[in-house]
Amino acid sequence: MALISGSQEAALLNSMLRQIDIFYATLEIIRIMLNPSKFLYSLARPALFSLDPERAHDLTMSKLARASKSPFLCSQLERFFGRKVPDLPVTCMGLDFRHPVGLAAGLDKEARALPAFSAMGFSGVEMGTVTPKPQPGNPKPRMFRLVEDEALINRMGFNSGGVDEFLSNIQKTDKTAIAGINIGKNAVTAIEDAHFDYVSAMQRIYSQADYIAVNISSPNTKSLRDLQNESFLDDLLLKIKTAQLKCQKVHGRYVPIALKVAPDLEIDEIETISELVISHQFDAVIATNTTVARPESLKSQYAAEPGGLSGAPVKEQATECIRQFYKLLQGRVQIVGVGGIKDVEDAWEKLLAGADYLQIYSQFIYQGPAMIEQIVKGIEAKVESHGYADLTTALNELRGK
Ligand SMILES: Cc1cc2nc3c(=O)[nH]c(=O)nc-3n(C[C@H](O)[C@H](O)[C@H](O)COP(=O)(O)O)c2cc1C
Repeated sequence: MALISGSQEAALLNSMLRQIDIFYATLEIIRIMLNPSKFLYSLARPALFSLDPERAHDLTMSKLARASKSPFLCSQLERFFGRKVPDLPVTCMGLDFRHPVGLAAGLDKEARALPAFSAMGFSGVEMGTVTPKPQPGNPKPRMFRLVEDEALINRMGFNSGGVDEFLSNIQKTDKTAIAGINIGKNAVTAIEDAHFDYVSAMQRIYSQADYIAVNISSPNTKSLRDLQNESFLDDLLLKIKTAQLKCQKVHGRYVPIALKVAPDLEIDEIETISELVISHQFDAVIATNTTVARPESLKSQYAAEPGGLSGAPVKEQATECIRQFYKLLQGRVQIVGVGGIKDVEDAWEKLLAGADYLQIYSQFIYQGPAMIEQIVKGIEAKVESHGYADLTTALNELRGK
């Protein structure tokens, strides 16, 4: 029998391990290729991630805006992504959503790509934040990828083409999914005058919206979050509600309103906001926006960049916020859950915590459209495995336990 030396043995072992690695890598590639919707994004992501994040965003949005004008391109997006997303109806704010997963505000700020996002499978698209007048937002760079943390930091500061441009875009758009419009105030408007901006934006976009989201929780507009304090909020909500009811008379249609809040609220602030959204008959709370917190666990070199942190690190905070709101609101005002949703487990946790509808932003950047199908199918499987006929019944029963 031929004898081999210690170094030959080590080389043999190394070569075997390399072959096992190649074998598993090949299996992974085959697995991805067999799932074309994942495969397509796995091709696009490295190219997009090689660009500055805002440049990648602008490039993607211009492609999606183009696709939105082309029935052929939308049908291809539908074929690869949207068609695979099952129906799993939910009602939130009186609106019937095809399934519980929508796109959060901030990606389509100017209402350019609703048909494309809808063709990818989202049941609702929240466009904006739009401000009454155009404004450039904060200086660049203002968007950062924290890849190691599956997170983003942004300090965009409501870069907005203004309500005129937004309206001219949305009026040309086919409303193929539920259209939310998220409104904010201009940076130059004093915080004491913020209500003028919200009311004027609401009056202008009312006829185009299926629901309106009032954003008082972006950390990137000076003092904006102060609007969450009782001293401002009571009066602001009253003025917005009054404007909504006037618009209802003018347009002969009730458009629900939701208040978008921060994940950094203390419990007494959550109590105050809950009382006010109930007394002013708001239709929903959107919980949550990005956080100003910086968990010690963050690894990325961009962790200390100022702005709002989103994605995986905000997940727990957002879910806890939903849980607290749900305890106080008890279904009188519904909850849209958003913050760090990555997979079906995260989505399910937010639904059980009290969310009636869900939104995604950061993980959509990391995973692409195939995640919509995975999450909706996963929720459907959970509903079935618990023995319920539909999601609403499942949540009503399971939340009580
Ligand atoms: C780059 C970026 C821009 C955003 N812009 C807005 C915005 O204009 N209005 C808004 O209400 N939320 C905005 N958000 C917050 C998201 O809508 C969402 O609430 C937050 O990112 C948490 O969800 P996620 O962890 O799934 O990203 C933005 C988020 C990101 C990452």
